[in-house]
Amino acid sequence: MDGSFRPALDVQRIRQDFPILSQTVRGKPLVFLDSGASAQKPRPVIDAMVRMMETSYANVHRGAYHLSEASTAAYEAARAAMARFLNAGDEREIVFTWSTTHGINLVAHSYGRGVMEPGQAVVVSEMEHHANFVPWQMLRDANGIDLRICRITEAGELDLQHLSELLADGKVGLVAVTHMSNVLGTVTPAAAIARMAHEAGAKVLFDGSQAAVHRRVDVQALDADFYLFTGHKLYGPTGIGVLYAKRELLERMPPFLGGGDMIAEVTRDGYLPAPVPAKFEAGTPPIIEAIGLHAAVDYVTAVGMDAIEAHERGLVDHAMARLSAVEGLTVLGRAQDRGGVFSFALDNAHSHDLATLLDRAGIAVRSGRHCAEPLHVFLKMDSTCRASFGMYTTREEVDFLADALGHARKFFA
Ligand code: ALA
Repeated sequence: MDGSFRPALDVQRIRQDFPILSQTVRGKPLVFLDSGASAQKPRPVIDAMVRMMETSYANVHRGAYHLSEASTAAYEAARAAMARFLNAGDEREIVFTWSTTHGINLVAHSYGRGVMEPGQAVVVSEMEHHANFVPWQMLRDANGIDLRICRITEAGELDLQHLSELLADGKVGLVAVTHMSNVLGTVTPAAAIARMAHEAGAKVLFDGSQAAVHRRVDVQALDADFYLFTGHKLYGPTGIGVLYAKRELLERMPPFLGGGDMIAEVTRDGYLPAPVPAKFEAGTPPIIEAIGLHAAVDYVTAVGMDAIEAHERGLVDHAMARLSAVEGLTVLGRAQDRGGVFSFALDNAHSHDLATLLDRAGIAVRSGRHCAEPLHVFLKMDSTCRASFGMYTTREEVDFLADALGHARKFFA
């Protein structure tokens, strides 16, 4: 220890809550550095889901019997917990989705086709995940919406000067950008972006899939019009995500999917949509997953988002120092404000080969283009490996990775 690192939370205590972390891989302790793809689950999340299924599961909003009422109450309590987590002013501003991808597609279809007009533009950035890229390409192709791509700087930060140029003609209806890059770790200046978008008459959407895991998010302070995150990266289950949207926008937006729960009335000739947020929750929702996500949000809130952020800042500084010192290793991104995501490439090694070698040492990283092909093309990188941290990641694990990369360098040389 160099003395500069002060753990802001008790990582060893936290690790005991995550059963999967104690396992070994081919006789070596698991070093799980792929939380950016999907995080592991703490015992309270696992238990809450099992308890729900054992004691109070039934479909929601559909039954006049005890179990359905209990299930509905638990589902709606989860919605209220999401509103508190994001500091939304109104629970009706929380729509449960199946994932961030589903939520962005919802906004692209409903807001993009139903509220925006052909001739208007959407701005995304060069560092978006495909989930915040392809739905807007689809909208462009189907509805004559102009798609503009904001540059990033050499350091991997959003080029705010370019954003201002893209907004200048007043035709932009929506700025849709990541709050934290899943490749570069860059945390974008969301409040400033929202201000710029609003001054130009545009709405703003943040893909918070990575950011909401690492930072306290306050949608009112950011003045976000749309904010999305996904359950499985936030230590919760797969199959559930959250779309926050300002209520007046949800009121103006037409439904996305049709089916049960999203209607007030149906006749042979047509339908009346249900009030928000049910209008956007067609079909049986992810009920058990909502209960699991509620438990996950309670868990991170109990640990403390500020403590999680402080812990990860320490890890980021340490990782930057250690990885920068590995000869032949290129680390992507040098943003001033960044989270615990590091993409890197090693001379003479394909990312899949490097990931396979690291796996032999028990280290799990992602390899490829991380659902961000335009960014890899922009950076002139064929593919990279990515190490991404969770609240349970330790400084020793970062050291282990750096040491393994040093060995890998010799191997591939
Ligand atoms: N979106 C996830 C990632 O960045 C899967 O790895």
